[in-house]
Amino acid sequence: MTTHDHLPLIASGRRPLIGHAVPLLRDRLAFLQDLRAEGPIVRITIGPKTLTVVNSPGLIQEMLTSKSSQFSKGLLFEKLKLFGKDALPVAEGKPHLTRRRLMQPAFHRERVSGYVQTMRETVEPVMANWQDGDELDLKTEMQLLAQSVVMSVAFSSNPEHERAHAILTSVDTVFKAALRRALLPVPMLERLPTRRNRHVTHASGVLHQAVADIITEHRSNPTGYDDVVSLLLDARDETGTALPDDEILSEVTGLLAAGSETTAVVLAWLFHELGRHPDLEQQLHHEVDTVLGGRTLTAAHLPQLVFTRRLVSETLRLYSPAWLVTRQAIETVQLGDVTLPAGTDVLWSPYTLHRDAALYPDPLRFDPDRWLPERPQPPKGAFIPFGSGKRQCMGDVFAWTETTIVTALIASRWRLRPAPGAAPRPISAITVHPSVLRMTAEARQNTTARETA
Ligand code: HEM
Repeated sequence: MTTHDHLPLIASGRRPLIGHAVPLLRDRLAFLQDLRAEGPIVRITIGPKTLTVVNSPGLIQEMLTSKSSQFSKGLLFEKLKLFGKDALPVAEGKPHLTRRRLMQPAFHRERVSGYVQTMRETVEPVMANWQDGDELDLKTEMQLLAQSVVMSVAFSSNPEHERAHAILTSVDTVFKAALRRALLPVPMLERLPTRRNRHVTHASGVLHQAVADIITEHRSNPTGYDDVVSLLLDARDETGTALPDDEILSEVTGLLAAGSETTAVVLAWLFHELGRHPDLEQQLHHEVDTVLGGRTLTAAHLPQLVFTRRLVSETLRLYSPAWLVTRQAIETVQLGDVTLPAGTDVLWSPYTLHRDAALYPDPLRFDPDRWLPERPQPPKGAFIPFGSGKRQCMGDVFAWTETTIVTALIASRWRLRPAPGAAPRPISAITVHPSVLRMTAEARQNTTARETA
């Protein structure tokens, strides 16, 4: 035993038997935010379950980088195996490394700039469907859009509206189940043949069938595609063996899940903030009109869209889609001045980290200019919407590119105004999404005409 050999302190407010279940169920985000004041690393309990929450940016960084081999992905990702047990976001150890090496090139910066045209061609028809004065359910609109972008770019597939909706609903059902199961005090409940559990099995069946159809289509035309699905189909291990079908299915499904909802909620929150800040909207319109000037958007325009990028950065800060990222200690780990025994369930929250007043002045203010290079930047490890280390998001460049493109394309044609009475609240599901986000689309040429009349 060393002097450092002790467990993290238990957070205040714990009740007999139920532990911290009440504040956690009442408002998880507020509970986790308040927990940051309790220390760099603390324990909470939900009934018999104990979770260790890492708050300090330095310790989070240590866990994700230098000590990453001492942790597995933990509770949430265990439940996310509902999407497929071998998919990259949930795979561990050598299989993870091998798969990441195989797929990473498709997500490198140079490759991603080659996707700009497909991204633009996917977004434009969606916007072309909007009519001046339409009231949009912007969250769903952005979910469908982000899903179509991943499917078009990575799978060369763009299903029609009804099918796209069915896929979206299935992903959503599986996500909700994974989160519920991760937070359940008693794991047994998820195996009971309840209506809810049958619904989850059905949803994951619908999703796998949709993905299986895409794979079949690629197989029937082996030289017709150059995308992530063909990369997986063509892959051979050192013995020349192809990947088993179920692994390809898992991987494609996992990518669809990882890449759609996250980007969609960033876009939804970004337009929500623009609706509340006409000054920022005007700045965006000015940049888009100057840089694009009615020309077709290409990869060459992206570095010039500096304000657009600041808007995306600020949205990734204030509305980090991930609010719960888990790990599990696979051996005894020393973290800061505490000891985590093997098997300890750990979590950290990008959402609450990015809203900490100790790291960001006036943290709840949406201020894209805090990202101006001449302004003091947040301390190291304080801005990590994509995580860090060997499990850092593989789609980070893809997501930056996509959010910048969608923001610029929408802003070049449309103003999205908050619909009367709209007051979206943050809901912490698998991501933190707006409760309902109703916005009215105004065609920009009409808005300009109205303003000058
Ligand atoms: C704004 C959008 C996005 C955000 C905020 C985001 C966030 C994250 C985070 C925090 C992780 C790491 C989780 C952990 O450490 O346990 C992650 C992993 C991952 N993300 Fe993203 N993501 C986004 C978009 C995308 C996109 C567009 C794709 C692909 C098209 C993608 C694919 C992945 C994959 C494959 C992993 C697992 C990587 C690994 O474990 O090696 N993500 N993402």
